[in-house]
Amino acid sequence: MSDAGEITIAFFGDVVGGPGRAVLAAAVKQLRSREALDVIIVNGENARNGSGLHPEGYRDIRRAGADAVTLGDHCFADMRIGAALDAPEEPVCRPTNLSSDAPGKSAVCAKPGGDGRPGIWVIPLLGRLFMKIPADNPFAALDRSIAAVLEHDGDALIVVEMHAEATSEKGAMAWYALKRWPGRVVAVVGTHTHVQTADARILSTDEGAVAAMTDLGMTGAQESVIGREVDDVLALMTTQRPVRLAVAATDPAACGALLRIDTVARRATGIEAFVIRP
Ligand SMILES: [Fe+2]
Repeated sequence: MSDAGEITIAFFGDVVGGPGRAVLAAAVKQLRSREALDVIIVNGENARNGSGLHPEGYRDIRRAGADAVTLGDHCFADMRIGAALDAPEEPVCRPTNLSSDAPGKSAVCAKPGGDGRPGIWVIPLLGRLFMKIPADNPFAALDRSIAAVLEHDGDALIVVEMHAEATSEKGAMAWYALKRWPGRVVAVVGTHTHVQTADARILSTDEGAVAAMTDLGMTGAQESVIGREVDDVLALMTTQRPVRLAVAATDPAACGALLRIDTVARRATGIEAFVIRP
């Protein structure tokens, strides 16, 4: 962190399977050789075999350097992660707008505050458009989740992850967070579609500035259909019979974005997408 309070957050899009975990570790090393990273956040919901997070996947992602690990619609695909999801000291959480009875934390502190610096928190949300899980209203859920975070940490700065299919819903969330929570939410980034979008930008008003991007892209094999073996996906889609979709391994790359945040002004100052082939 600079004296002026500028920090850089690296946010990696969905890590897919073993190839994704391996390229994540190499990419963090490469990124760190040229950037001072203050916080690393990783979506790990596809880290097991393309669906779900298992304890081994969580361990790999944390060892790669992640300060916080988020999940999406596959959050409960492997409930061996349940103990970590419930444990206050483990920085892994599921989307906040699930059933109020759903297990696990729904927001996580990626970097505690101190010495006058604000803590950096992550709140993941599920979209509702074209998604299979009947999630709660993500806009109202964001308001409730921020209120809950502020009870723990009144100074918190918040990064929102919108895990969703529809571009419109992700874009709407970025504007909503800017208008509703200026000086509190500093970034809204999308995940889930696994294809990086070319729309990284700063949305701003006099009161706040939010780093926004519709989808960070995928951390995994790029010669694939969103991380799965091409021939398997073609067999599924051309015949409509059930086909096991193996995780692809060719052309691994880590996709995400660097978020530049002024923690004193409590505004985003920059966002740069990256695709790293270590
Ligand atoms: Fe997803």
